[in-house]
Amino acid sequence: MSIRNAVIPVAGLGTRLLPATKSQPKEMLPVGKRPIVQYIVEELNLCGIERILFVTGRGKTSIEDHFDDDPDLIRNLRETGKEDLLEELQYERIGINYLYTRQRRQRGLGDAVLCAESFAGTEPFVVALGDSIIGRHRPSDIVRRLIDAFETHDAACAIAVEEVPREQVSMYGVVKPESDTDVFVISDLVEKPAPAEAPSNWAIAGRYVFAPGLFDAIKQTGFDHRGEIQLTDAIRRMLSDGRRIVGVRLPPTEKRYDIGNFESYFETFVEFALTDPVYGEKLRQHVRELLGENS
Ligand code: G1P
Repeated sequence: MSIRNAVIPVAGLGTRLLPATKSQPKEMLPVGKRPIVQYIVEELNLCGIERILFVTGRGKTSIEDHFDDDPDLIRNLRETGKEDLLEELQYERIGINYLYTRQRRQRGLGDAVLCAESFAGTEPFVVALGDSIIGRHRPSDIVRRLIDAFETHDAACAIAVEEVPREQVSMYGVVKPESDTDVFVISDLVEKPAPAEAPSNWAIAGRYVFAPGLFDAIKQTGFDHRGEIQLTDAIRRMLSDGRRIVGVRLPPTEKRYDIGNFESYFETFVEFALTDPVYGEKLRQHVRELLGENS
């Protein structure tokens, strides 16, 4: 069975990226030539997704504008002889059906995903976090591998995981794998553990496939100490209800770029710009000169 629906939660306030995110969503910050969220949509499109629900919040309407057709812009480009730029708008025509709903209050990722209940209906669906790009210049097919693992293992949830240094586990949901294999059964998972308490250093990497039973699990999950409903806690509830949860490891060659703070955002931008097929070479030369001057 193919999975056609995906949810991209983009309601977060992006406070760690102020002032850049004062009046624009962090998901619309550029990485190289494209806004972050475009990479995610293109990745999902290549994995066969046909409908995307964005769970938005206040100040996020530029995401809707970005994926909307803009006949005035197209006419302007044609009339002014800039037809070559039309290619840059090709993403508008990839045939995905976009829907938008709002998370009215900031009550955590679990609550944001719950806003997708009527969208998902009785079908399994993908969740892709709006601030994580996976793979550079070539979209990852991790979602396809998650769907395969979900179906093969008759799972209630399949989660992409990446290896992170032990001292960083407290920034992530962390899983306990039952085996060393690329695809494995998860026997426990915990949101943002202290390094000494983490069950491993395999972190949840922002791509999931869920059976619709997730929504009941979210409704039964309480608020955490920050007043949020965590998606990880809802998955843990499915696990304790006897459902099978599987993990799929991202290999080191398939890096995840997290745009949650300036350190990782700068690193990501620089990496994508330096390797840009058109502008990269000149930029590398420029950077070499800069570094030479200052060293
Ligand atoms: C969220 C999830 C966490 C996951 C992380 C990946 O955390 O709650 O389990 O590891 O995304 O980026 P957030 O980054 O929203 O705090």
